[in-house]
Amino acid sequence: MNLKQMYHRMMHARTVRHQLKEYGARFEKYAYVDCQCTDREQFRASITRLYHTIEKGLAYIDFRPGFGKENIEQLLQSLHQYAEHGYDCTAEFYGAALSCLEAYISKNKAHGLDLKELEERIAQLPGASNGLGGVIEIQAPVEPEKMNFKELMSSRHSIRHFSAQRVDSDALADAVRTAQYTPSACNRQGWKTRIIQDKNTVAGILANQNGNKGFGNEIDQLIIITADLRAQQRNREVFQAYIDGGMYAANILNALHYKGIGSVPLSAALTSEQERNVRQLLAMDDAEVLILIIGVGNYPPGSILTTRSERRFEPIQTC
Ligand SMILES: Cc1cc2nc3c(=O)[nH]c(=O)nc-3n(C[C@H](O)[C@H](O)[C@H](O)COP(=O)(O)O)c2cc1C
Repeated sequence: MNLKQMYHRMMHARTVRHQLKEYGARFEKYAYVDCQCTDREQFRASITRLYHTIEKGLAYIDFRPGFGKENIEQLLQSLHQYAEHGYDCTAEFYGAALSCLEAYISKNKAHGLDLKELEERIAQLPGASNGLGGVIEIQAPVEPEKMNFKELMSSRHSIRHFSAQRVDSDALADAVRTAQYTPSACNRQGWKTRIIQDKNTVAGILANQNGNKGFGNEIDQLIIITADLRAQQRNREVFQAYIDGGMYAANILNALHYKGIGSVPLSAALTSEQERNVRQLLAMDDAEVLILIIGVGNYPPGSILTTRSERRFEPIQTC
């Protein structure tokens, strides 16, 4: 390495450290801790996350009456605090949370569990249910390959019930191939795809991921998306692996839907110990970072329940 190269290397290292430090400071300042929110956007996200956990529980085949007590308590407190801050209780997410609680009460009732006290506490909250929370009933898509783009995008849902029938390997490979058309910074395509078929490895990975409880056992195979840091330049590209990798992962989900394969994205934001275990199970290269774990399987016959996961269609800001 000559002197000029050494100088550039040093400068880039400084840039990276600076970017990470700035991001770290911003993250610490704005991300919320354990549902303790101080501004409206934190409340919106935290309340949505909490009521979504209830939507998930309502969608499981193996319904557990009275499930999710801790999250329900946290949700009630958060809704109360949100209202106390003087924020708008006609907001869509707020009404969706109330309607999700309503759905929880009525499903429990149908299973013989009367939750009078909870009902009374919900009645004391300001605002009104708007019917936008809870579960929806869906079926395997009919001829998804004939759908137009908008129909395809809007009919994809996270699927958490699968048949025992193995997903066709060619269809899976075709979906992955289609996703290769994802754009990436300077076409570097730093992502990597693994398809995990071995049941023990699937179970081992799922045991290290928190978001598949209640349905993980129904997943047929996993697609693991990683991104290789060797595809990135040191100046300005600290987060590029996650940007390119995230775009690729989203396209995989849509391509799977196009092929009629059910899928559920599973967060790869793991604890350090979980990540160590997953890295070992997958023999990951040290240069790789985890982007997303995707559970795949065939749709079971008939209809299934999934989370409503209402979308925000807020006005687009033009400048
Ligand atoms: C990065 C990411 C991580 C996710 N992690 C989980 C998870 O761990 N468990 C789960 O059941 N769903 C998970 N989901 C699915 C979301 O809950 C779902 O995408 C969202 O509610 C929208 O619903 P839809 O996919 O049905 O449109 C995840 C989604 C994304 C994009």
